[in-house]
Amino acid sequence: MLRARRRTWRTKGTGARRRTLVAVVAALVVLVPIAWMWTDSLVPSTYSVEEMGTPDVGGGPVGMDHAGHAGMPMGPSVDQLREPPGPADVDLTLVARAGRVTLPSGRVVDGFTLNGTTPGPEIRAVQGQMVAVRLVNENVAEGVTLHWHGYDVPAGDDGVAGVTQDAVGVGGSFVYRFRADQAGTFWYHSHQVADPQVKGGLFGALVVTPRAGLGDTADLTALTHLYAGRRTVNGLEGDVPAVGAPGQRVRVRVVNTDNGPVQVWVGGAPYRLVAIDGDDVDGPTPSTDSLSVTAGGRADLEIDLPADGAGVRVELGGASAVTYGRPLPPTPRPAAELDPLHYGTPAALPFDPAAADRTFDYVIGRRLGFLDGTPGLWWTVNGHLWPDVPMYVVREGDVVRMHIDNASGELHPMHLHGHHAVVLARDGVPSTGSPWWTDSIDVQDGHTVDIAFVADNPGLWMDHCHNLAHPGEGLVAHLMYEGVTTPYRVGGDPHNTPE
Ligand code: C2O
Ligand code: CU
Repeated sequence: MLRARRRTWRTKGTGARRRTLVAVVAALVVLVPIAWMWTDSLVPSTYSVEEMGTPDVGGGPVGMDHAGHAGMPMGPSVDQLREPPGPADVDLTLVARAGRVTLPSGRVVDGFTLNGTTPGPEIRAVQGQMVAVRLVNENVAEGVTLHWHGYDVPAGDDGVAGVTQDAVGVGGSFVYRFRADQAGTFWYHSHQVADPQVKGGLFGALVVTPRAGLGDTADLTALTHLYAGRRTVNGLEGDVPAVGAPGQRVRVRVVNTDNGPVQVWVGGAPYRLVAIDGDDVDGPTPSTDSLSVTAGGRADLEIDLPADGAGVRVELGGASAVTYGRPLPPTPRPAAELDPLHYGTPAALPFDPAAADRTFDYVIGRRLGFLDGTPGLWWTVNGHLWPDVPMYVVREGDVVRMHIDNASGELHPMHLHGHHAVVLARDGVPSTGSPWWTDSIDVQDGHTVDIAFVADNPGLWMDHCHNLAHPGEGLVAHLMYEGVTTPYRVGGDPHNTPE
């Protein structure tokens, strides 16, 4: 048989042999690069984000390589960038638990609670107070952390598993401490396997009221979340009646804990957008427009309730509403949308963005490739697939500009940890309204946003998409203060999985 086959082969002659060879070479030309790309995409089971990506100094002074060579003095470890221990004014313990959860609405879902509830307890502090939160993990097998979204805490308290701490395992605990210097609306959530844990309810509101208080204003947090696809406000569904006397001024702090934007509008009275992402808006004027609240973002609305007790509805996504006064039927979403780029009155910035020390590009794209060996259509940053993303390097005191460009086919709510940035322009159109400070900003597909900030909080900070399904698909980079190190590693024993 064998001989016969050989003979057949021989009879094919050199032409056939050459064709076979060409086919093999062609296959190799295709397969070898794919194999190389596959191998190249593999990420070790444990690694330090310090070693991740390509340092990008944004046109500023060089002097480090991110492995700490080149004679640069080593900076502090994130562990040293913490609030020293001491007494706290707001001191509480949050116990994380996984399992079947009964929402305040009565609906039962699979998820997570903090002290038996989801959303977790609202943390309230007065500006200037010291806050200490002990996180205890009762039974969450994957581990947990708490990240203080929008709060510019010391780096060591940022709560990112594998970057600023190890995930807190079952039976373990971690104490977060920070001074409540920023008044405004914020939230906290797990930053360990963040997408499922946040979807499942491991979060709560953080509200810091100004030293001077809020006077007679009725203050309400309206934290909205989709539990198993159901729109809720503070865990409740449908209309949620709130306390407010006729003629009283109310402040509604909308917190969007979802992966996508939520449309908010007010029926029955105009509102003023008094704060975005915890920062006051200058000269807010009455509006009846719809407002898009970014995933992870916050919007504080102030409303003067009608003196005659007529109804007011703060509509959240059209499925839920916070209601005041006499019953009012649901109101349709206004066609016009409030644009913070041109809302309120301009004011001087505390720094000059035109004199930036560093300018970075954060260009978001999408392409076929391998992500840690898995083929797929992945997000790219500046043309590269994770982990070949930029490591944005700054020095304390730098004025930093960042040009975010989204050409990826989808909306991305971009979130930089530890800093508040001011929006300079969208699609090259400069901001003409109040300084628009933000920590979570929607960058629509096909659009650009220019932001600027002062590097005033040394650390190693995530800069990622807050559609929490996306960081795990490659949409994550870091901002590193020159020389800052971390003793923590992604993966490893604590199974640190920040995404
Ligand atoms: Cu609210 Cu890194 O996230
Ligand atoms: Cu995204």
